[in-house]
Amino acid sequence: MKTGKEHKFSKLFYNAVTYAGVMLSILVATLEAFLFALDFFDKGRNLYLGLITYLILPGVLVLGLLLIPLGVLWKKRRIDRGLPNIELRRFRVDLAIPQHRNAILVFIVGTSVLVLMSVIGSYKAFHYTESVQFCGVLCHDVMHPEYTAYTQSPHGRVKCVECHIGEGADWYVRSKMSGARQVVKTLARNYEKPIHTPVHNLRPAEETCKQCHSPGKFFSTLDFRRSYFLSAEDNPRWEMRMLLNVGSGENRGYGVHAHMNLDHDIYYVADDGRRQKISWVKSVGKDGAEKVFTSPDSKYKDAPPPADLIRKMDCIDCHNRPTHQFLAPYRLVNDAMQRGTIDPAIPFIKERSLEALSADYASGEEASRKIPEALSEFYRTKVPDFYASHRDKIDKAAGQIVDMHRHNLFPEMKVRWDTHPDNIGHLVSPGCFRCHDGEHRAAGSDRVISRDCKSCHVIVEQGPAGATEKNIDGLEFRHPDGGEEWKEMSCNDCHTGGT
Ligand code: HEC
Ligand code: HEC
Ligand code: HEC
Ligand code: HEC
Ligand code: HEC
Ligand code: HEC
Repeated sequence: MKTGKEHKFSKLFYNAVTYAGVMLSILVATLEAFLFALDFFDKGRNLYLGLITYLILPGVLVLGLLLIPLGVLWKKRRIDRGLPNIELRRFRVDLAIPQHRNAILVFIVGTSVLVLMSVIGSYKAFHYTESVQFCGVLCHDVMHPEYTAYTQSPHGRVKCVECHIGEGADWYVRSKMSGARQVVKTLARNYEKPIHTPVHNLRPAEETCKQCHSPGKFFSTLDFRRSYFLSAEDNPRWEMRMLLNVGSGENRGYGVHAHMNLDHDIYYVADDGRRQKISWVKSVGKDGAEKVFTSPDSKYKDAPPPADLIRKMDCIDCHNRPTHQFLAPYRLVNDAMQRGTIDPAIPFIKERSLEALSADYASGEEASRKIPEALSEFYRTKVPDFYASHRDKIDKAAGQIVDMHRHNLFPEMKVRWDTHPDNIGHLVSPGCFRCHDGEHRAAGSDRVISRDCKSCHVIVEQGPAGATEKNIDGLEFRHPDGGEEWKEMSCNDCHTGGT
């Protein structure tokens, strides 16, 4: 045992716990300095490096530093209790004593450096947790579907946080609290599959979407052209062109975007957590006039619903998939055939592709194996002549289908087009028809929320390719298979999006 004279610091510092703390701190601090430099010059491109540098190591550093005073306390208590081999001394600070001066100097310098590092560190950590990589890639399995869809969407360059968090400290804190909970759940592999939608505590669109978009200024009409291929041997092609009036109504009072607080405010109550069944709707005009519409089976025909169930309609109620779009098979296949990436000359290819994309697979890996197998099997046995002469076309189509599957269906997370329906439109999920089904009626009157096809879009061309009818003033919808059921039934009663 050394005597007091040989010590640079108070004797209390000489104990195993403090030693461990000092060693750990020096080690981590050196590592941190190195990683920090690396990350600085690499511009934060390496994501796991970021995680280690800004989240994990600082935690270890704090632990190391805590061990130092803990060791001191521990030793002091031993001394106080008069445990053997240790000389009893009262704890005091005296600047006249060199050991104390040294200790204080080290403490001040050490703390300053540490505070400085923490400030820079937290700043970087803040940026790091705001980054798309942090949100989308780090929680790879969980967020994989949302991230994949996002990268291919029109918002692929908008940061996750700009829609999910927005500006301001309160939302930052709220999101980090729920984010921390999610990280724990992810590490414990205790999360829902799929992640629930809608996001019930999403920030109001007013403060996110509207930072970039100003629908009040929209006055345009969108020109929709779509090609559909029907399920028959020769995949008959059906054309459709319509004008969708997205105008805002800021000055005119018409158009889809009149919904958004411009012409009137809309409030509604959904009966299910996914907001797919809407039973009560209230429209409040700019003059304050109110109209209430209820569905035939509504609970709220006589008494209004409780206030906490009522939601004010905003962008997200229509644009619920502005970036995480999981497209339905019918859409994927029609588009690919229109572009020619799947050759429409392959017999039965529409039907076969839908089949391949609608089947259940245990994993994406299984899909990428089974899709080409099933396709070759079908053509080899059912259309052998075509198979013999055009194998390359079939292989190419199989590759395309696998690719579409990989980007839009995620068996591991149980995510598909029908688990996350898009509320824009009405073909494969109720969408606009959640209210516009012609059956949401105002009490004691004939007024309904309109299902009239012309109130939202005007069909200007339709029919089989090469023999379409055209009329700029609008045509009555003709169903591609000639049926008339669409007049009475909802489109999604028959249309599932797959087979
Ligand atoms: C353009 C705005 C926007 C951007 C950018 C964005 N999201 Fe979303 N996100 C949404 C909307 C809107 C919803 C659905 C809200 C609803 O229906 O309630 C959503 C839903 C989600 C959900 C819930 C599950 C689901 O699919 O509905 C997750 C998880 C998610 N987003 C993760 C991310 C990640 C990770 C990123 C960045 C890689 C990101 N988001 C970027 C707007 C956005
Ligand atoms: C940081 C800015 C930003 C935010 C926030 C943002 N957007 Fe966008 N959005 C854009 C840009 C830029 C485009 C145009 C992309 C293009 O044309 O390539 C766009 C395009 C769109 C489109 C047209 C997509 C298409 O298929 O052409 C819709 C719809 C849309 N945004 C809705 C939303 C909604 C809903 C939200 C809120 C959940 C939102 N945006 C939030 C920047 C933003
Ligand atoms: C009543 C439903 C509804 C609401 C509410 C709504 N939109 Fe739209 N919006 C549409 C439809 C329908 C389109 C046409 C695009 C389509 O069919 O994909 C559209 C188109 C757009 C486009 C593309 C316009 C273009 O000319 O390409 C943007 C951007 C957009 N909306 C932003 C918003 C924002 C921001 C909000 C909220 C302030 C909002 N929308 C609210 C239904 C709605
Ligand atoms: C929550 C219910 C609800 C949903 C969902 C909804 N709407 Fe509406 N919409 C209304 C109500 C209510 C009115 C009538 C407002 C009034 O007359 O005061 C209306 C009116 C309209 C009008 C004006 C029609 C006319 O004849 O005056 C258009 C256009 C429109 N909606 C488009 C859409 C589109 C497109 C979608 C889907 C993307 C959609 N709406 C989804 C409730 C809804
Ligand atoms: C409340 C507004 C509204 C009404 C009413 C409405 N539609 Fe639509 N419809 C839309 C919107 C919005 C889209 C665009 C969806 C998209 O962006 O893919 C659409 C898309 C379509 C499509 C293309 C579908 C696809 O996925 O390719 C067809 C066909 C169609 N509508 C037919 C009709 C017919 C027929 C009626 C009358 C029974 C009708 N619509 C009534 C809003 C409406
Ligand atoms: C009674 C069932 C039924 C109803 C209701 C119905 N459809 Fe269809 N629809 C079909 C069938 C069957 C086909 C042919 C599918 C095929 O050949 O692959 C079809 C094909 C289509 C196609 C071509 C789609 C594709 O897969 O490429 C469009 C577009 C379409 N229908 C629009 C509508 C619209 C819009 C409505 C609602 C206004 C509607 N349908 C209502 C049964 C229905």
